[in-house]
Amino acid sequence: MTNDHHAAEGDRVIGRWDQEEFTILSDAMFGENPPQGGKICVVGAGFMGCVIATLYAHHGYEVAICDSDPAMLRSYHDRANPIAASLLGYAAGTDAILARVEAEPDLTKAVEGAFLVHEAVQEVLDVKQALFETLDTLCPATVVLATNTSSFLISDISARMQNRQRVIGIHFVTPGHIIPVIELISAADTPAELVAWSRAFVDSLDHVGVAILERPGFLVNRIQFAMLTEIYRLMDEGLASRDDIDNAVRLSLGPRLALWGPLLTEDLIVSKKTALAVTNSIYEQTGDENYKGRPVLEDMVRQDHLGAITGRGWYTFAGTSESVVETRDQQLSALLAWLKEANTVEALNVR
Ligand SMILES: NC(=O)c1ccc[n+]([C@@H]2O[C@H](COP(=O)([O-])OP(=O)(O)OC[C@H]3O[C@@H](n4cnc5c(N)ncnc54)[C@H](O)[C@@H]3O)[C@@H](O)[C@H]2O)c1
Repeated sequence: MTNDHHAAEGDRVIGRWDQEEFTILSDAMFGENPPQGGKICVVGAGFMGCVIATLYAHHGYEVAICDSDPAMLRSYHDRANPIAASLLGYAAGTDAILARVEAEPDLTKAVEGAFLVHEAVQEVLDVKQALFETLDTLCPATVVLATNTSSFLISDISARMQNRQRVIGIHFVTPGHIIPVIELISAADTPAELVAWSRAFVDSLDHVGVAILERPGFLVNRIQFAMLTEIYRLMDEGLASRDDIDNAVRLSLGPRLALWGPLLTEDLIVSKKTALAVTNSIYEQTGDENYKGRPVLEDMVRQDHLGAITGRGWYTFAGTSESVVETRDQQLSALLAWLKEANTVEALNVR
């Protein structure tokens, strides 16, 4: 289908492109659900392409993996074997997974019949732009084109394309076959249907999609580097040691975040009034605007949505405050006991 396809009865309008109505046929790929099984092409057989292709094959998709460097295709099976083994919990069956991945050096052949092309070439904007321009001409408009970019905006990667609405970021977090979260990054004109399609696709991999509009750092790195920036600053200023920083995070913030995430944690451990007072106090002492209490937090305080103590914060609590605290403490104690038992840092044999 091309951009000059005009809406017919039964077609759904999914967006606009250059003032023209951009439509898809009602039975096209962008439906609520991606096909169960079928062919996917992964372009780039490096570190990430190897993981992505193997995960797709593990979940029953037929995969063509393509790379401009023949040596990367030749070494794919050897590199994929431990990933497949890990996916199987080290049980037998890696051969069956790897048999579903075909190494194909010719891009035209590799994309043939694929409902999804997932790009995982190195992080060079010009290389990605050129590849998406080529894919745009090679693949029918109903084929979804995904990028695993870690840092570029989707709208920059698709800048040279005509059918930009079919591009979405499907970004794995390392190690991608183990970490269940996959970021789904959209540009301003990405149809909501493509985000829903991508969520359903990611579900089929037993992963969890987290969606965000394109912004530098997306979701995971934005949050991760907010914390790391502060840590680098503490170290630059000689205020705390490596071990004290790691212990502070590992034994306080880390377990709570792993159990509940940052917003539910806030509901469970602190009143929004206190959270607002603390952030404003850091702002007043540092003058750093990043700490100034945000409207979203001020609104919660105004509405008395202070967290578990008032029965409502970011979340609504059905149980009493006492029962929530009891469950909270049981969960936290169990995780901390496991961490102590597992001796996770010592097990890595680091100094
Ligand atoms: N390494 C990570 O931990 C990680 C995590 C998340 C996302 N990413 C992103 O995934 C992408 C791939 O990263 P990587 O670490 O796997 O890179 P890599 O260098 O290991 O692999 C890139 C591969 O792409 C191939 N290639 C380059 N241009 C090509 C083209 N035009 N057609 C076909 N193949 C081509 C190269 O030969 C190479 O084998 C990048 O966008 C990166 O930012 C990486």
